[in-house]
Amino acid sequence: MGDNSKITAAVLASGGGSNAENILRHARTRAGGVEIPLVICDKAGAPVIGRAEKLGADCKVIERTGTKAEHEAAIIAALEEYGIEWIFLAGYMAILSPAFVALYKNRIVNIHPSLLPQFPGKDGYGDAFRAGVITSGVTLHYVDAGVDTGPVIAQKTFPREEGDTLETFRARGMQLEYELYREFIDSLAKRAAA
Ligand code: GAR
Repeated sequence: MGDNSKITAAVLASGGGSNAENILRHARTRAGGVEIPLVICDKAGAPVIGRAEKLGADCKVIERTGTKAEHEAAIIAALEEYGIEWIFLAGYMAILSPAFVALYKNRIVNIHPSLLPQFPGKDGYGDAFRAGVITSGVTLHYVDAGVDTGPVIAQKTFPREEGDTLETFRARGMQLEYELYREFIDSLAKRAAA
């Protein structure tokens, strides 16, 4: 913090970490703009930990033990230690409390694997695929106190194609998730430079 030409962000993730990797790689390609020194993971052993470390980010594993308030207090302490201003959720599967969201108001962004408000929750691709949609999509949105309800930043759509399995359907959507985060990082970097 303190350098107005730079935005400092953290990624919060729970699993595979392909979005986290995409975000870290993209932020790194920009000279200045958005810096991401920290990844926080709430699951010991999650693949995202190795991916983050390979890309030179510190990864703190903060498991969900104790109360939600205690867990979030530990996350906030880490965010403060690194001077984090923005939070990018990338497959982070816990719901943040209203108090946490208020602390980072309009500075928490989430990627969701459906065209919100359709198919909120934990399995956007699965729910959309099983519902037989012809067109699905992905949503980047600000996080508010609800679940997958915050203001939409951008959405991208993709078709369900003949012969799709859930895996091919998901793979098509994932590419668009990466694009949405890359475009958002570009817009944040421009904002920082302005
Ligand atoms: C992504 O599809 C992301 O949109 C989704 O989890 C996956 C994480 O993949 N997030 C949610 O469903 C949030 N409710 P990744 O670990 O490879 O980035």
